[in-house]
Amino acid sequence: MDLKIHLETPIYTEIDRYSKSKIIHFDVPGHKKNPNSPIAEAFGDRIALLDANSTKDLDVLSNPTGVISKAESLMADAYNSDYAFMLVNGSTSGVLTMIMSACGPKDKIIMPRNVHKSAVNGLIMSGAIPVFIDPGIDPEYGITNGITYNAVKEAIMENSDVKGIFLTNPTYFGTVSDLKSIVRLAHRHGIPVLVDEAHGSHFPFHPDLPDAAMSLGADMSTVSIHKTGGSLTQSSVLLVNEGLISKEKVRSIINLMQTTSASYLLLASLDLARKNLVINGNKIWGELLSVCEKAKTKIRKIPGLSVISRDDYVNGKEIYDYDDTKLVVRVNELGLTGFEVYDLFKAKYNIQLELAETYVVLAITGPGDNEDSFNLLVKAFENLSQEYYGERAPFRIPMADFFERPKTVIAPRDAFYGIKKSVPIQEASGEISGESIMIYPPGIPLVIPGERITDQIIEHYNFYVKQNCIIINDDGNTNFIKVLGE
Ligand SMILES: Cc1ncc(COP(=O)(O)O)c(C=O)c1O
Repeated sequence: MDLKIHLETPIYTEIDRYSKSKIIHFDVPGHKKNPNSPIAEAFGDRIALLDANSTKDLDVLSNPTGVISKAESLMADAYNSDYAFMLVNGSTSGVLTMIMSACGPKDKIIMPRNVHKSAVNGLIMSGAIPVFIDPGIDPEYGITNGITYNAVKEAIMENSDVKGIFLTNPTYFGTVSDLKSIVRLAHRHGIPVLVDEAHGSHFPFHPDLPDAAMSLGADMSTVSIHKTGGSLTQSSVLLVNEGLISKEKVRSIINLMQTTSASYLLLASLDLARKNLVINGNKIWGELLSVCEKAKTKIRKIPGLSVISRDDYVNGKEIYDYDDTKLVVRVNELGLTGFEVYDLFKAKYNIQLELAETYVVLAITGPGDNEDSFNLLVKAFENLSQEYYGERAPFRIPMADFFERPKTVIAPRDAFYGIKKSVPIQEASGEISGESIMIYPPGIPLVIPGERITDQIIEHYNFYVKQNCIIINDDGNTNFIKVLGE
């Protein structure tokens, strides 16, 4: 890679120049960069100055030919892909675009059931029919992992007409599948591989991180640069390798859904993050991996806690590789659930963890971390252990039940658009769901449109409510669920 070209930041440089050019604005946005506007007063003049609409100077995200086009080429180079499309509606819009680019109504797509809700939305919007496969399960940590080569192979053998394979790589918890072999297998059958790489934006920039999807030959990948890559929240990128997927189709699908008024703060932040990733990424992630390793060594010694590390977690089959910048800490031996620890950390130590699951909490690390913040995190775990270890029996529940896949009765799109009625969730057993209900984060639905609701799903829902989890459904009334009517 030619590092020199990555010193450039075409969008940031142009918006910076434009913001200082004393233009008299008779265009939108209506705050007109006025230093007395509420926006400038609340956020500072610079934010108002950098907030502009598309113009000939600034280029247009939906059909770029100028600075955005240059920035997208640099992004593609950074991620070793043929093309990059900047996104201002998160990886959600990238996931939707990937599925809609590969599949139309009634086309089959292979995917694990533990996908983010955006993939379920992609099924609804495209009309594609999911061929769900089971992800690996780790009952000790109570988490789901990636999908295996053999599971994909079996699904292809049974469904030779599939139009795409969608996978989450890495998972939220950092596990990675054997993507290289899966891509090779899929391509032998002419099937494109679409990767939700929302949590892997840092992968290409250090040799001790897992390989990134594009360099392994995947056809599309959506990367949340805002999650671990350092850009502003909501900014993301969709990468495309040409061959099985047409770049023109991808562009037209993005333009179906994306705003015509993209924020230059978000776009410029992608530019700045890409420069930093390419120029400084090796140093940043080298240091981060080393601090993470030290923290993991300390956490491992704390009574009642265990933590996942690449060295003892990767087994080559179910778990092909692991992102050691993730801190997945098992806390249930303290007699607490992950959800309780998540709340305790915020209340007692002012530490905001990324998410909780029944047995674990997840701390996400990133380029903005430093050794002090790690020390505070480790100290909080030590205090937690001192207070709870040996005081309560370990918390355990039948984990396998939690991961039983609901039965799909009707295609998600047909269920979503079907005639629905609202029923109390406690009385919904046996009904077919007309909506998704999920715990956020991670945003993996408990039930999706078209699946049969069971006693077990209601029991799990009640458990999450009792654990004070954030529950998200279609309309905010989480005591009720929309089910299919007559
Ligand atoms: C695995 C996964 N995919 C996709 C998304 C959606 O990304 P975004 O929040 O950037 O829209 C998320 C968000 O948490 C996620 O965890």
